[in-house]
Amino acid sequence: MQSLLNDNITILALLGALAILVLTAFIVSTYFNKIKHSKADGVLTEEDWDGIKEFKNDLPIGWAASFLCIIIWGLWYMFIGYPLNAYSQIGEYNREVDNYNKHFESKWASLDSTELTTMGENIFLVQCSQCHGVDKSGIDGKAANLNIWGRAPEVVNVILNGSKGMNYMAGEMVPIEISQDEAKSIADFVMAEISKAKIPANADSIAKGKDLYATYCTACHGLDGKGLEGVEDFAPDLTTYGTYEFLQVVLTRGKSGAIGKMPSFTYADFNAIQEEALNSFILSNN
Ligand code: HEC
Ligand code: HEC
Repeated sequence: MQSLLNDNITILALLGALAILVLTAFIVSTYFNKIKHSKADGVLTEEDWDGIKEFKNDLPIGWAASFLCIIIWGLWYMFIGYPLNAYSQIGEYNREVDNYNKHFESKWASLDSTELTTMGENIFLVQCSQCHGVDKSGIDGKAANLNIWGRAPEVVNVILNGSKGMNYMAGEMVPIEISQDEAKSIADFVMAEISKAKIPANADSIAKGKDLYATYCTACHGLDGKGLEGVEDFAPDLTTYGTYEFLQVVLTRGKSGAIGKMPSFTYADFNAIQEEALNSFILSNN
């Protein structure tokens, strides 16, 4: 009982039931009284049902008033009341999720890199390890080896073996026929100067890579790595490669590549902090 009375909805329903009872008792007793003391005079209607006749009464004021009230309430209910403003479980759920997310965001807003990595590891173990393995190595080639991903060795890999499956307008990036050394120089240049990750490398290699990049890569990725000017989504934006923004792209698009199919993770609805954490864990020893 105590717990019932803590709930506004139950209290409202009980009050409503009480009001209906009181009204009913009042109306019934009034009419019984009337019937008892009725003098049975007044104008009769024309109808005659086997000798039973009916008085010509106006619609009782009470009925007319409640009829009108119900129409007004109905209109209010349709347009102003419940559907838009009142309590609903879905509304309460949404508010709880919003509050939780706000709390989550402020609580985890300023994590240091170790905390980020640990958080990323926890998400990775649940969401990603079944394909990529707990050691990120891709379980003998079943999924991408993430121990080199996001850094120069993987860029070399992509240059020499190509890449496909993320649905860019340019379609597939075909393997580029250059030497391992040249590919390494391009990768050094991409990671040091194109990518915001700014990973340092040997200066000669970077300089050599810059020329090679202009020759082999600009056609699709543009001189600055951002893709073709004026063409949306032509090829991936290499300025984000090695940062969590690139992981965001992979998680959104998924990848049906040469190795296999990685599903899109939009359904998981990771927030930016979780994506940063995942990225931090993936790159933690690359
Ligand atoms: C013919 C156009 C084209 C050329 C030329 C090209 N790329 Fe790409 N590149 C693409 C496309 C398209 C993708 C996205 C492929 C996919 O869907 O996975 C891509 C993806 C990439 C990726 C990301 C791969 C990943 O793992 O997600 C890197 C890094 C990259 N390119 C670097 C280069 C470099 C460096 C060069 C020059 C040596 C180059 N690309 C030349 C079209 C091109
Ligand atoms: C159902 C198996 C599966 C799951 C689950 C999965 N991946 Fe993948 N992932 C793959 C496969 C397969 C590839 C390689 C695709 C290709 O290039 O052929 C891949 C590739 C990748 C790449 C490299 C993309 C690139 O640019 O080349 C990254 C990064 C990645 N996954 C991260 C993740 C993260 C983070 C998770 C968890 C949130 C995850 N994956 C969950 C199968 C999976």
